[in-house]
Amino acid sequence: MTGAAALRGQFPLFGKVPRPFHYLDSGATAQIHASALEAMQAFDTTARANVQRGTYPLAEAATGAFEAARGRVRRFLGAGPAEEVVFTAGATAALNLVARAFGETLAAGDEVVISVAEHHSNFLPWLQLRDRAGIVLRVLPVGADGRLDLAALERVVTARCRLLAVTHCSNVTGAVTDVEAIVAAARAVGARVLLDGAQAVQHGPVDVAALGVDFYAFSGHKAFGPTGVGVLWGRGELLAGLPPFMTGGGMVGEASLEGAEWLAPPARFEAGTPPVAAAVGLGAVLEWMGGLPWGGIRAREAALARRLLDGLAGFPGLRLLGPMDLECRAPLVSFELAGLHPHDIAQVLGDRGVAVRGGHHCARPLLAALGCDGATRASLALYNDEADVDALLEGLAAAVRILS
Ligand code: ALA
Repeated sequence: MTGAAALRGQFPLFGKVPRPFHYLDSGATAQIHASALEAMQAFDTTARANVQRGTYPLAEAATGAFEAARGRVRRFLGAGPAEEVVFTAGATAALNLVARAFGETLAAGDEVVISVAEHHSNFLPWLQLRDRAGIVLRVLPVGADGRLDLAALERVVTARCRLLAVTHCSNVTGAVTDVEAIVAAARAVGARVLLDGAQAVQHGPVDVAALGVDFYAFSGHKAFGPTGVGVLWGRGELLAGLPPFMTGGGMVGEASLEGAEWLAPPARFEAGTPPVAAAVGLGAVLEWMGGLPWGGIRAREAALARRLLDGLAGFPGLRLLGPMDLECRAPLVSFELAGLHPHDIAQVLGDRGVAVRGGHHCARPLLAALGCDGATRASLALYNDEADVDALLEGLAAAVRILS
C-alpha cells in the first residue's frame, strides 16, 4: 500500500481540510505522518518526564524513549554510533551550531566555502562568523541552471579552506549537489564538509557514510515529522573536539565558580531540556520512512516532476529555474511568469485549494545570481499525484487570466 492515495491516507490532515486541497508546499513543511503523532501521544501520556536527569521509573522511560529516537535517526542516516546524532531545534539551529562551534576552532584568515545556492540558514551564520572572527568566506558560483559550478572548485577551494558548507538539494531549483566532487575537493586540502540536508530528507533515507561528509543537518518537519526538532549529525572525533554552542543544564559534568567541564557529545550540544516528544515523533517517522520502497516512490516523484515541468513549459513567458534533467533534481519546481508577482500567483492558486510558496525562498543570493526577483515554487512529496499537478496547471491558467 504505497501508492500516493494509500500514503495520503496515513497523513491525518488530508482527511480534515476542506477540499479541493492540493498540497504542493512540502519543501516548506511536509505534512506529519500518523506514526509521529501516535509516538508523541504515547510518549506524552505514558513516559513524559525530563530526560538524562531523573532516576525514578518514569524518568528512565523518558530517557529510554529519547535515546531510542536517537538510534532511529542514526539508522535513517546510515551513521555510526548514536552519540554522533545531536537533537536540535531544526536545520537552522543545527547549521548555526556548526557555525558557532566549528567556527570557534577557526582563525582569522581561515576559509569557509559556501555556494551561492544556499538557503539563508547556511549563508547568514557564515557571514556572521566572517564579521566576528575574520574568516574568509568564499562562494562557489552556480551555472545558468542553478547547479553548483564544480569547475570553479579548483579556484575557490584553497589550502586555507577548513570547511565546505553546501546544500544537499536546493530549496529553489531542486538541484541535487554532486557531493562526491565536493568531498574530493575538501579532502584534497584537508577540509571538512557540511551538508544542509533540509530538502533531501523527505525523498528518502540518507547514507552519510557513503556520502563521505563530516556534518549533516536536517529538520524534522520536512521529513514528515514534528516541528521544533532537527538533527545535526557529525563525525564522533570531530564533535568531540568542538566547544559547546549553548551552555546550561544537561551538558556539563563538573561546574563550580572556578570553571566547568563539558560532557561528551551529544549531551555537550543539547543544553537545556531538549524537544523530547518531538524527537520521539521524529524517530518514529524516520523508522516508517526506512521501511518504504523508495525506488518506486522516487520514480513516481520524478514522473510527477516531469509532468509538471512539461505542463509549465507550455505557458508563454514562463521561465523554469533549475536543471531540466530529473536525474539531478528533486521533485521541486520553481518558476517565474513574466508580469505576474509570485505572491499573486500563490494567492490565486491558494483560493483554488492549491498550496504553493511564492517569493524569494530565503535564498536571495541565488535569486540574484539567476536574475530572478521572485519565484513560485511547487514542491512534491510521496503523497502527491497527477491530480495535484493538474490542479496546479489549471490554477495557473486561471491566474494568468485573472491577473494579466
Ligand atoms: N526552508 C523552507 C523553504 O524552502 C521554509 O520553504
